[in-house]
Amino acid sequence: MIGVFDSGLGGLTVLRKLAERFPDISFCYLGDHANVPYGNRPSDMIVELTRRGVEALFLRGARLALLGCNTATAVAARRLQQNWLPGAGWAGHNVVGIVAPTVEAATQTPWAVTTPQYPQKFNSDLVAVFGTTRTITSGVYREEIRKRCPRVEVIQQICAHLAGAIEDEASREELNGLVREGVLALIEQTRGALPHRAILGCTHFPLVEDLFRAHLPPSTRILSQPEIVADSLEDYLSRHPHYLGGFHPQPRNLTMLTTGDAAEISARAAVFWPEAPPFEHVAIEARVV
Ligand code: DGL
Repeated sequence: MIGVFDSGLGGLTVLRKLAERFPDISFCYLGDHANVPYGNRPSDMIVELTRRGVEALFLRGARLALLGCNTATAVAARRLQQNWLPGAGWAGHNVVGIVAPTVEAATQTPWAVTTPQYPQKFNSDLVAVFGTTRTITSGVYREEIRKRCPRVEVIQQICAHLAGAIEDEASREELNGLVREGVLALIEQTRGALPHRAILGCTHFPLVEDLFRAHLPPSTRILSQPEIVADSLEDYLSRHPHYLGGFHPQPRNLTMLTTGDAAEISARAAVFWPEAPPFEHVAIEARVV
């Protein structure tokens, strides 16, 4: 069983793709709706909330926890992998994030390769990255893309309130206004130059991809993070099949957990994923404020 973690509903954009791609694999999803959004929270708090979420998934039987969240990945993935997991008593378990596969797709370079390779070293595209405050201020996308493609210009744009507005079921008009504002601010940064590609670097944003599509120039290609993550997980599991565990129930299980209100979250999830199974409430620890 594979665990998928997000601060809220955003990781469902990834889970939905994974559930489609891997019809025989069981998944356990955890949305930390009690604490969403993470994007403007202090880094140490994001690390701690993510650690609890990952541990809850391990306790449910997942051996691999995929952070279906750019903010958690950008801020917490490395710290959990290096500082927590080795001494946490979870031998045979792992945490992986979604920044690495996205950078691989954006640079057409494997993550393990950290120096510019031909022909990508001559790539001089303009790449736009939209994300939460914490993802963008971490600088991880710019840094990791430019390591591999030093001539690529990476323009980052914080969309501080978009994930929260999506969680709060803001009106289409309000969401449209926030996306428009983000795209205009980005184009102002590029001084009118049109991005070749755009990374929607927050898993909530595919829920308003049509609005990004409407405001971005038609020539800008939007990289689909759920698709990229599914490709990458397929490759990862072929190299590390032990993370799937030994027993595969038929039909496979999709377990949906939330730290929020199960009925409310189930109703909201069904709006964009009608086949989503109902959520159950899980109490991890006291709500962090
Ligand atoms: N969906 C998340 C991301 O990919 C987090 C959004 C939030 O909680 O602020 O960044």
